[in-house]
Amino acid sequence: MTVNRGRVRLGRVTDDAEELRQRLPPVPSAWDAALDAADGHARAYLAGLPARPVSAHATVDELRRALSVPLPDEGADPAEVVHDLADGAEPGLVATGSPRYFGFVIGGALPAALAADWLAATWDQNAGLYACGPPAAVVEEVAARWVLDLLGLPASASFGFVTGGQMANFTALAAARRAVLGRLGWDVEARGLAGAPPVRVVVSDLRHATIDRSLRYLGLGTDAAAVVPTGPDARLPPAAVADALDDGSSGGPTATIVCTQAGEVNSGSIDPLAEICEVAHAAGAWVHVDGAFGLWASASPSLRPALAGVEQADSWATDFHKWLNVPYDSGFVACANPDAHRGAMGVHAAYLMHADDDSAAARDEMDWTPEFSRRGRGFAVYAALRSLGRRGVADLVEGCCARARQFAERLGRIDRAEVLNDVVLDQVLVRFRAAAGSGDPDRAADDAVTRRVVAAVQASGECWMSGTTWRGRAAMRISVVNWQTTEADVDRSVAAVQRALVSL
Ligand SMILES: Cc1ncc(COP(=O)(O)O)c(C=O)c1O
Repeated sequence: MTVNRGRVRLGRVTDDAEELRQRLPPVPSAWDAALDAADGHARAYLAGLPARPVSAHATVDELRRALSVPLPDEGADPAEVVHDLADGAEPGLVATGSPRYFGFVIGGALPAALAADWLAATWDQNAGLYACGPPAAVVEEVAARWVLDLLGLPASASFGFVTGGQMANFTALAAARRAVLGRLGWDVEARGLAGAPPVRVVVSDLRHATIDRSLRYLGLGTDAAAVVPTGPDARLPPAAVADALDDGSSGGPTATIVCTQAGEVNSGSIDPLAEICEVAHAAGAWVHVDGAFGLWASASPSLRPALAGVEQADSWATDFHKWLNVPYDSGFVACANPDAHRGAMGVHAAYLMHADDDSAAARDEMDWTPEFSRRGRGFAVYAALRSLGRRGVADLVEGCCARARQFAERLGRIDRAEVLNDVVLDQVLVRFRAAAGSGDPDRAADDAVTRRVVAAVQASGECWMSGTTWRGRAAMRISVVNWQTTEADVDRSVAAVQRALVSL
């Protein structure tokens, strides 16, 4: 049946849900009641987000008491199950979608992305094979083209929609491992690593933990990492990378990968990508960019110069569930060498209907990701990008960076607060002093106060920031990636921090 989609304005369908429902055949009652229940809870949650305390209000014991029931012998009414689940979980929810949630690097959910994700769950396409869900495959092709363009990456790059930055890094480094060993005549996919030439991975001392974890997953081991210290600006110095590359090259060609970063997880710093690509490529190394959130700065004309040279790298990892505000889980890997990418990830089986067996040359998603079966996570990405448009993505990124600078400026005015990083993107690090005045800082006392301020702010429910250790000192870590955060939210949050500090 063709659904008459009604009035279309600015490319958007404006029928309300009721009107659409009336045009459709009645939904079977089992679906109807359960979906109505979920819809009611979802709308109430979203409407309450701005006012709701940001931290969870239930303890782990309370959650266990509410949710831990014996598995029933007989099934229960689906709508009742949904109500019970929502009622049990609700007090424990952390309002990560709140405009005043600044923990880790966690985005909210854009309306179009969330709604498209509901549809993705409803359609339940297995986005591993084209044959199992043709629109899921095509939407990924379209969205990937947009993403490559927005991020300033080569249009010819191969790509995969993965669960997040971890799997994007893993996939990219698997392609890198294949390519750098392949150049030495070693087919790692067939022969494994036993007896293989050693692979060296040049990394920054501020690399994300998922790089080390990828090295473990790939059998390279964390000892493969040649760690290069970052400078005071938290960036990898190209000369130090060149030295590290030189180190291993005396005996002829080596299998080397250089891991750079666009958006260090604490400070947001961006490595000098053009210079590093130049020295690394001169040494025959593969360059990977971990840009879980920072790659999105490329979507802003004013911020793009900070990522100059990004297109010269060999692989890139980023997330949609961070700065693009797409619901979890949603990440993206791209690779300048599609053969290496597909060679590392591709899979065939007699019982599958591979798209490349047919003349349509459609794309099977499982050839580009570690997953086999998986959900259609491209729908939400497509919807997010289409609802924002090129300008909207730039505004989102620039707005968050402006809010981060606002945080730094307001917090910097507080007596006993010190902003520790250059606020180049959306990340702010701030530390608090135990005693006022300009005397010698008492490091241990300042660490303790900083941690107590973080805990007090979290407990306040006004806003939520996490803590970290930066260059050996405790710090509060503020990450602004939510599409709804306003200047007023920042002012309110700074006031909460100030109250926490003076209350200690
Ligand atoms: C720089 C960087 N890389 C990788 C990751 C891991 O991403 P994910 O949590 O999506 O797997 C993060 C997460 O914060 C990150 O900041």
